[in-house]
Amino acid sequence: MKMLGIDIGTQSTKAVVLDQDGHILKSASASYMYDSPRPGWTEQDPEVWWKAVKSALKQLWKMGADPKSIESIGVTGQMHSLVALDRDAIPIRPALLWNDGRTKWQCDEMNKILGRDKIYQVTKNAVLPGFTAPKLLWLKQHEPDHFSRICHVMMPKDYINYKLSGVMAADVTDASGTSLFNVGERKWSDSLITSIGCRPEWFPAVYESAAPIGKISAAAARETGLSEGTLLAAGAGDNAAAAFGNGIYKEGTGNVSVGTSGTVFVPISGIPDINQMGANETLHIFCHCVPNMWHAMGTTLSAGLSLRWFKETWEKNSYEEALQDADVISAGADGLLFLPYINGERTPVNDPEADGMFFGIRSGHRREHFARAVIEGVAYSLKDCLSMIEEAGIQIHTLYAAGGAVKHSLWKQILADVLGFSLHVHDDREGPAAGAALLSGLAAGRWHAIDELQGCFGITKQVNPTQANKQLYQQNYQIYKQLYPAFKALNRG
Ligand code: XUL
Repeated sequence: MKMLGIDIGTQSTKAVVLDQDGHILKSASASYMYDSPRPGWTEQDPEVWWKAVKSALKQLWKMGADPKSIESIGVTGQMHSLVALDRDAIPIRPALLWNDGRTKWQCDEMNKILGRDKIYQVTKNAVLPGFTAPKLLWLKQHEPDHFSRICHVMMPKDYINYKLSGVMAADVTDASGTSLFNVGERKWSDSLITSIGCRPEWFPAVYESAAPIGKISAAAARETGLSEGTLLAAGAGDNAAAAFGNGIYKEGTGNVSVGTSGTVFVPISGIPDINQMGANETLHIFCHCVPNMWHAMGTTLSAGLSLRWFKETWEKNSYEEALQDADVISAGADGLLFLPYINGERTPVNDPEADGMFFGIRSGHRREHFARAVIEGVAYSLKDCLSMIEEAGIQIHTLYAAGGAVKHSLWKQILADVLGFSLHVHDDREGPAAGAALLSGLAAGRWHAIDELQGCFGITKQVNPTQANKQLYQQNYQIYKQLYPAFKALNRG
């Protein structure tokens, strides 16, 4: 019997079928893009995700996957994005996404209403513009008609779970990113919910990620080709699912993921007192997708997105074309540096209004220098995430990498060189979707303990840093770090 994983990403939905040993048998995807009604705003219609799920599944069936052989399904997806539904469970408006930057004022407002200490005490995090609660506050203030119609609040993967099963459910990993969740006790905080004018009943029952929540309904079976009655797990946010898919659920081993966003993710077995430690306010402390585990994380908003922007701006048809000859350019791109804040930035500056930039342009720089500088800039921003976690005293001895970027040898090498770590990379991992499928196997009782999955994480290859490049990148990283403060001091208003 097989397991199906579905990942509701920001630029595409992916679906993978895994065999009982965790090997990926088939995979399909359907692409889309988000809307940006104003600079810094990002939105997506939940129906786009549902259509993409149906399209990806249709492709799997065409490839010969047999829905009857699928025993369990797990869904994962972009975190934090607000899906607000009316009383008939119809989306009231497009979802406000995790990289939407319109809610800085609402974050300040939440800090004023509740106090930073109370927010930290309950949620273990600062409230950040990408998180869900300030989006609800924004709706309340700017679209009161929409706000007054809200009856249910969901994350993207929860909406798809609802479409598949008719069951409204949340999981601990995604709930952690709402700023309305008691991360230590793994339950909704009714007092935070009511303090911003929302109602506790809007938030679905919350489960551990590998808990069964329902079955594929007759209606969803007709629409998708899935078999009615197939078991559905609660699933997890994309970063927890990607880490789990790489076998990362114990302390000491971290995961670097490069999708639209970039994250560094490290499991922890208890919650550090961040407020006391004076850690960077963008250190995320969320529940992991296995019971009694949490994780520390840093997020850069435009990782893969920076390369997509570069490809489109330089009018290249493919990433291969955009990156052609970038490997011939020496490390450091002959002095050209890129700051990937093209949609603002979360870690480490928490500034939705931050700008991206190229620094040090010379007449000899060509497209391939810019391409290399983009990848190096994204790697520096991931170095910021890693350093923040290490500075908080969280130990990492082994680092894995996942996401679209790790399929490209130059990306992998630059990441290893800049981060200064040997990176372990799975050959056949699709990131979050595989992790979600494995979670569904646990929900179906295929394994009784998480350690029994060891054989399912597949074989890894190691990418070692090149000593000379590692040293050069360390020097350049010091210059990179000064770009944002220097530019901010210009105060362009
Ligand atoms: C994590 C975050 C992003 C999204 C992207 O906090 O905002 O990684 O989950 O899908």
